[in-house]
Amino acid sequence: MKNVSHQVVPMFPTPLCLIGEKYKFSDKEYKAVMSYFDVTNKNSTGNNITRNKYILENKALSKFKKWLTMHVNGYASSLIGVNETKCKFHITQSWANINRYKESHHKHNHPNSIISGVFYVDGEDGDIIFHKQTDFEEHGWHLPIKDRTKFPFSNNEFGINFKKDSLLLFPSRIIHYVNVNESDKPRISIAFNTFFKGKIGHYDDATELEVK
Ligand SMILES: [Fe+2]
Repeated sequence: MKNVSHQVVPMFPTPLCLIGEKYKFSDKEYKAVMSYFDVTNKNSTGNNITRNKYILENKALSKFKKWLTMHVNGYASSLIGVNETKCKFHITQSWANINRYKESHHKHNHPNSIISGVFYVDGEDGDIIFHKQTDFEEHGWHLPIKDRTKFPFSNNEFGINFKKDSLLLFPSRIIHYVNVNESDKPRISIAFNTFFKGKIGHYDDATELEVK
């Protein structure tokens, strides 16, 4: 194809959205988040996760939760085209993570959620890496690719630089992870899942689902 004119169309992109607006915690909000690290579970890669999985239900964080919910619904309506009068998203479970020096966050996705988000509370700038099988891998073809970074259609990983006080939204099913923290500064994030209230599908197609 080198010397032949051609047009390539990147079909079916995945919406990974880094919100431009930052949220600055008040001292009270920051303390409320940090209090949950008194009781954590540690996994094999060292990621410490708060045992409390509804931290955004804390009244001290209600303004922050409202801000997150507004952006989730903005993502749904502006990027996905969801009709807000029929289907509104709300936050379900929420928790916080801390990676200290040489700790990382294992590969995972967020089952039983539609849109997920992660807010970066503190730490050096770093990449969250998203992983998705290519079209060929999905069908079992592991072709010998020369250099995945040079061929977007064969690249199954995508890193996005993540800065303090920022919110990243993504489809919950997408696998993601964070590499080892090489800084002495702990990396702290808040993650959450969502679900909807409203009516989706169509009565005549037997796909209707109403969630109240
Ligand atoms: Fe996650």
